[in-house]
Amino acid sequence: MAIISPNNNIDEIPNLVFLELSNGASKKKHPFKNVVLTTINENKPKSRWVVFRKLSLEKNLLIYTDFRSKKIQELRKNLKCGLLFYNNKQGLQVHFNASYKIHHNNELTKKYWQGIAGSSSENYTTFYPPSTPINTINDGHKIDKNLSDRYFSIIEFYPSDMSVLQLSRGGHVRANFIKVDNKWKGSFIVP
Ligand SMILES: Cc1cc2nc3c(=O)[nH]c(=O)nc-3n(C[C@H](O)[C@H](O)[C@H](O)COP(=O)(O)O)c2cc1C
Repeated sequence: MAIISPNNNIDEIPNLVFLELSNGASKKKHPFKNVVLTTINENKPKSRWVVFRKLSLEKNLLIYTDFRSKKIQELRKNLKCGLLFYNNKQGLQVHFNASYKIHHNNELTKKYWQGIAGSSSENYTTFYPPSTPINTINDGHKIDKNLSDRYFSIIEFYPSDMSVLQLSRGGHVRANFIKVDNKWKGSFIVP
């Protein structure tokens, strides 16, 4: 069933979207559990899936990555990035343009590292940095146990505008929003 219906007024849509995002971040099998992050690399867009970890109280979006990864380098060079979600069960697509903050070696990373250490810490402690060319795949699995949370980082995205498309037999709904004074202002557009 669609999340947004043609009966919803424009101001109801952001809350419906953020409720769904909050479900996505907290439920393992939810289609919003993964998100496509697009950065700019030498004037070319570059997209990849990442796990959507948390929607903060301030409604910012958190993901985890290795501080040495290309996405971090790309974000630091170019402030522009996009986040694309699609709920294929309920036909809801949401795209954000966002600014961001990279958390590294701070209170936030220390806090979330506790939930990672021992389970998926190998994602952030490879001996060679992500994207390093290697001779055998075993080299890519080498872990430096001493690294601990040294390269663990959290990217906190601050959405600035949002495009919503709800596909539905009852009538598609499409709307664009921008964030002004911490409130989403939007208008419907032709789907
Ligand atoms: C379903 C899925 C989830 C992923 N989650 C993450 C993630 O949470 N963080 C991350 O850094 N990479 C994640 N990856 C790997 C990235 O897509 C990407 O290959 C890797 O981070 C290197 O990207 P970069 O070189 O552009 O930094 C995930 C890949 C898939 C397919």
